[in-house]
Amino acid sequence: MPPTETVYGLGADCQNEEAVKKVYQAKGRPSDNPLIVHVANISGVEKYVTHLPENFYTLAKTFWPGPLTMIVKIDEGSLSKSVTGGLETCAFRMPDHPLTLKFIQESQKELVGPSANTSGKPSPTKAEHVYHDLKGKIAGILDGGATRVGVESTVVDLSEGTPVILRPGGITAEEISKALGGIAVTYDKHLVTPTETPKAPGMKYKHYAPNAKVLLMKNDANSQDFKKAAAHYSKSKKIGVMATNDILNHIKPTVSYSLGDKVNPLTFTHGLFDALRTLDEHCDIILAQTLPEEGLGLAYMNRLIKSSGNTWYEDKED
Ligand code: TXA
Ligand code: MG
Repeated sequence: MPPTETVYGLGADCQNEEAVKKVYQAKGRPSDNPLIVHVANISGVEKYVTHLPENFYTLAKTFWPGPLTMIVKIDEGSLSKSVTGGLETCAFRMPDHPLTLKFIQESQKELVGPSANTSGKPSPTKAEHVYHDLKGKIAGILDGGATRVGVESTVVDLSEGTPVILRPGGITAEEISKALGGIAVTYDKHLVTPTETPKAPGMKYKHYAPNAKVLLMKNDANSQDFKKAAAHYSKSKKIGVMATNDILNHIKPTVSYSLGDKVNPLTFTHGLFDALRTLDEHCDIILAQTLPEEGLGLAYMNRLIKSSGNTWYEDKED
């Protein structure tokens, strides 16, 4: 599959069992982690669901095509277990990318589309990321350049009374609540233990992890704090820094990834996975700038916290 506005996806006909199995194989993805079905219009969802909730139509009209995935109860048996992970629900999304929409339309299918990375690694936001992880395992890559949003879609569960966000992304809880006339939209931040069954099965797996150790800098960390942290480790380790230019100009690290001139959450999410992958090639420790956990900053922090195993740089006064 080509890029979407969020990340590159690995596409396959959702009704072709063999093709769907190959998607799991290529990614090395656990078989109980269900897939998102990508559609080019609402009738692509109606094919599998007779009674769609009103909220679904409202949100589809407001945000599709766009970075919003909606989970709804499907007609029994309308999609295979390998797509749904054996759940009674399925996740649907209409991506906002002309190449992808054309691809879905012309194939006249609905396509499963997990992120086109090796399971557990940072999601791919450039064609070369897909090539790096999946070369030799997939039929081909449609190169559409770097993706715009850079983190995966917001996943909202509409299968129970109140909409629940299972994964924060490009569309915020506030925007969803506003579109639905101000009703409560909750965010399930629940961190799942290995023996629990989470609402979004993907939540229990280790995610977004580069080989390098990622250390989070406190949100109010200034360039002095970054300099101190870099100095603390640089005797024995190769340090890479992902931060805004004012910080990078101050500490002048040998390896760096710019997250833009000033703090802009979209520039941060856009660069996040490329930063993790690029820095991972050259260093042992990645010092990462953080954002307040609100709006798009919540999506950025959700991925960054997972990639670091929630490890924060503690200011050591030694
Ligand atoms: O932006 C995106 O959503 C990208 C692009 C390619 O569209 N796709 C993507 O797919 O991120 P994937 O498979 O990497 O992530 C799908 C997430 C997983 O965490 C999965 O557990 C959850 O959605 N999910 C899928 N179906 C579900 C369901 N029926 N109930 C709960 N969670 C579900
Ligand atoms: Mg993924």
